[in-house]
Amino acid sequence: MAKYNDLDMKSWKQYEDIYTDSLWIIEKRDNSGAHKGDYHGNFIPQIPNQLFRRYTKMQDWILDPFMGSGTSIIEAQRLERNYIGIELDVDVATAAKDRILNGENINLTTGKVCIGDSRTFNIAGILDEVGINKVQFVILHPPYWDIIKFTEHKKDLSNTKTIEEFLQGLGEIIDNTCQHLEKDRYCALVMGDKYANKELVPLGFRTMNLFLERGFILKAILVKNFEETRGKANQRAIWRYRALASDFYIFKHEYIFVFKKVE
Ligand SMILES: C[S@@+](CC[C@H](N)C(=O)[O-])C[C@H]1O[C@@H](n2cnc3c(N)ncnc32)[C@H](O)[C@@H]1O
Repeated sequence: MAKYNDLDMKSWKQYEDIYTDSLWIIEKRDNSGAHKGDYHGNFIPQIPNQLFRRYTKMQDWILDPFMGSGTSIIEAQRLERNYIGIELDVDVATAAKDRILNGENINLTTGKVCIGDSRTFNIAGILDEVGINKVQFVILHPPYWDIIKFTEHKKDLSNTKTIEEFLQGLGEIIDNTCQHLEKDRYCALVMGDKYANKELVPLGFRTMNLFLERGFILKAILVKNFEETRGKANQRAIWRYRALASDFYIFKHEYIFVFKKVE
């Protein structure tokens, strides 16, 4: 079997901080160094950190087609993985680039921060530029459909009008990015569910299916606790009242799906 990480199993007991259970309860976001945590809709650095240590090796290439504030790229740099990040919004990508290049003074890896639509972005061109054929991990943290509106851009997945349009767009991004993933390596999708019209919309499982339909092997469904936003925390009592008085539960989790590319 191809070795896809740097874990030394002769001394496996040293990896106490690497999760092997499917329930991830993480109390505090890592706000160290260049991680500012101020981008609405970011994920906590512990997610890419755990995934990269488990599924990649030093000097591997990681592709993030929903780069946002660059959380996963900062983690890639810290762990000495190379990176390609793509983000639709110019201002968001520019701020991320500054953070990535100047935030921590780590120069052990190389990478590219790109601005564009991940559906159509010429990734082969970037691979050519950096002199590689394939990447070894793809991390996808798309908008959870329209829960947070990221930009006014037509191509922004958070501006899709229907769930079908959202799934179609995400499917195109999976195709455009994962075609460059090396065989027998891994990708991960981070996704949460939503309510609309008094109905739970299982975005997690609907988007997981996009990978299964494409022949990826499902390796993990990880359930991670959801950090409460400050606004929600202030409204905890009112949400609890509403839930008790009605028939729904308050979301406290999101999913991380891990897939293996086998064909
Ligand atoms: C959930 S956020 C990712 C946050 C990131 N993980 C972080 O920690 O900052 C999704 C990002 O995808 C971007 N986005 C939406 N549609 C896109 C598209 N078609 N191509 C590239 N980026 C897109 C949004 O602007 C937003 O920054």
